[in-house]
Amino acid sequence: MAEKILAIETSCDETSAAVLDGGTRILSNIISSQIDVHRKFGGVVPEVASRKHLELINHVIAEALQAAGLCFGELDAVAVTYGPGLVGALLVGLSAGKAIAYAADIPLIGVNHLEGHIYANFLREPDLAFPLLCLVVSGGHTDLVYIAGHGEYRVIGRTRDDAAGEAFDKVARTLGLGYPGGPQIEKAAVEGNPQAVMFPRAYLEEGSLDFSFSGLKSSVINYLHRARQRGEAVHIPNLAASFQQAAVDVLVDKTITAAQEHNVSLIMLAGGVAANSLLRTELQKAVCSSGRRLVYPSLVLCTDNAAMIGCAAHFKYIRGEFAPLTLNAIPGLRL
Ligand code: KG4
Ligand code: ZN
Repeated sequence: MAEKILAIETSCDETSAAVLDGGTRILSNIISSQIDVHRKFGGVVPEVASRKHLELINHVIAEALQAAGLCFGELDAVAVTYGPGLVGALLVGLSAGKAIAYAADIPLIGVNHLEGHIYANFLREPDLAFPLLCLVVSGGHTDLVYIAGHGEYRVIGRTRDDAAGEAFDKVARTLGLGYPGGPQIEKAAVEGNPQAVMFPRAYLEEGSLDFSFSGLKSSVINYLHRARQRGEAVHIPNLAASFQQAAVDVLVDKTITAAQEHNVSLIMLAGGVAANSLLRTELQKAVCSSGRRLVYPSLVLCTDNAAMIGCAAHFKYIRGEFAPLTLNAIPGLRL
């Protein structure tokens, strides 16, 4: 019989718990978002996030078990994100996971949050063939990851400054679109012309698979300030659409180049920015016309959730990769 794993995710501003059967069948996936709490501050406040996780964690876990129709005694393992993320936030989920592992006498599995994002794709297609290339685009990361097999990662490109999601959030804030920025930019851009302003695309030095989004972000902010100083009217949807197009162009081009250079025919998209419909459609087009195939998670599994952590944990469970109860949170954990 397939193993049942309880997974916990508290790395940023979502308190989430899920139960998975055999790694890819989601029995429950409860996500309690703190967006409304942080909105008035214009971004995530770490201390507030930790306190909110603490308030919610037991309820979210109880709800996940109840929705799955299971009790602690029926679990085979408990999985938890231990990094990267906000240390105080991570510690809440990690402490809950350890307590359950100890009390129920089941193994603890530590999962890297980015690995979780990658494995959201295996929830859609459990038998994806290696090697794979994954573009991980979230609020904290923009990585091109070459994956030779389960758990075998090589980061072949990463951002040198802002992450893509961070640029979306900061630009949205400057444009007065609110938090979280990604979905707001996407919404505003629907009414805008992506060719209205030619913002810079940073490709860095020849052959580099790294990214840089701070120049693009500054260009949008400077454009807005200059226009306001001159008393010119600004068309916010045009700025949102032009920014989004510039960011997506670079993400798509670098991903295709990486796939060609590393001879990979199956490409995955992961992380919160993977929910962006322009990125999904433009990458889909480029991947298809290069004779390759793209896989991306359903919308709800792109942003933070515990089901993706449970899926990554399943493959660790099979390999017997368990963590000691001394496992600590690592805010800067790498793949
Ligand atoms: O993966 P995620 O939920 O959390 C992190 O691990 O960081 O990603 C959150 C990021 C935020 O920066 C948010 O603005 C961005 O993903 N995001 C989007 C969209 N939905 C979320 N960015 C662009 N378009 C979207 N539709
Ligand atoms: Zn995330």
